[in-house]
Amino acid sequence: MTNNKSTIRLLSVVGARPNFIKIAPIVRAINEHNRVGYKAGPGLERPIRHTLVHTGQHYDIDMSDAFFQDLGLPNPDINMEVGSSSHAVQTANIMVKFEQILIEEKPDWIIVVGDVNSTLAAVLVSSKMGIKSAHVEAGLRSFDRSMPEEINRIITDAVANLLFTPSPDADENLLNEGVSPDRIKRVGNVMIDTLVSNLERARRCRVQELFGMKEKDYVFVTLHRPSNVDDIFALSSIIEHLMRLSERIPVIFPMHPRTGNNISNFGLQKRIKDSKRLIICNPLGYHDTIGLVDKARLVLTDSGGLQEETTFLNIPCLTLRPNTERPITITQGTNRLTSLTSLDKDINVVIDSGDLLPRKAPEFWDGHTAERIIRILVAAH
Ligand code: UD1
Repeated sequence: MTNNKSTIRLLSVVGARPNFIKIAPIVRAINEHNRVGYKAGPGLERPIRHTLVHTGQHYDIDMSDAFFQDLGLPNPDINMEVGSSSHAVQTANIMVKFEQILIEEKPDWIIVVGDVNSTLAAVLVSSKMGIKSAHVEAGLRSFDRSMPEEINRIITDAVANLLFTPSPDADENLLNEGVSPDRIKRVGNVMIDTLVSNLERARRCRVQELFGMKEKDYVFVTLHRPSNVDDIFALSSIIEHLMRLSERIPVIFPMHPRTGNNISNFGLQKRIKDSKRLIICNPLGYHDTIGLVDKARLVLTDSGGLQEETTFLNIPCLTLRPNTERPITITQGTNRLTSLTSLDKDINVVIDSGDLLPRKAPEFWDGHTAERIIRILVAAH
């Protein structure tokens, strides 16, 4: 590295599972920037000192540590260990601890990703301290303010200095909210960077065989949104649907802790009959998940990331939500919205007719988004 004066100090904040997947290519791009001796071009030669902060929003081994290992992420430089609590308590705890971290670290920029409580808490603190912030995955809108993530997205984008967007609809949403065009940078999708660089390894695992499944002959399910799993009627109906579906085609359902906790709290365990055709397991690591998605006949989910990953992999996806903040996965991809009332019919269409419409990968979903982000941040400094 050259002298400290010319070093750019970046500090990234992660808290929940999808954040780890989004930050991994950014960490790699920073290392690459430093490794190649700052050959990026005139004005881009300054080295970066990077600090990785984990809020501890997700703390279970299979929700957090496993992802750090799978994705080759370094251990966080700082772990705030805030854990689970109500939204207000969780957000407030992150804010109090993060303020102290910023006082000590004095970064030039903070980087936040996605739409979780950790994203919102960090950006609020930095903006009040006059520290510049960049939001990766900016501009996505479901237009459904009952989702905690939608509130997090709106506020994060209102205060962050630079908004890195994945798709044209995101640019449009920001412009419609009066954001100045010079804050908006369309760079593509960091989730797809991680997918591109890990796909070969995920395919080598042949994890479907370990689950006793045949290629294109099972449905992969993930469900954890409050609207689906915090309501006893919705959750019981989902269980009935999955039991029925498994009589027709095997189902693999790695269960998020929120969903598992609610099944116990609502006393629904007895409704789930053990069967080789409905496999419910703990949350899986990144490569196992991608390996299973890649060979599935259909993915049924309420996750944001899986809507994008299935579009890239050309796997039919049904999203059990009334809306999506990722409409490009419907207009150009393999995603369709579904509901508990239309689920049986929608599943039949995919299974009987083979596929949904073929996808066209959106522009810049090419594996190089993080490099674009780092180049822009260095130039902006
Ligand atoms: C959070 C994000 C959501 C994201 C999801 C991915 C917010 C508002 N929501 O939702 O956008 O899609 O992460 O997983 O930030 N729990 C554990 N172990 C853990 C983490 C959570 O047992 O490691 C349990 C806790 O009991 C907690 C519950 O899961 O109460 C919910 O966790 P929380 O981080 O509050 O929200 P998620 O539902 O995971």
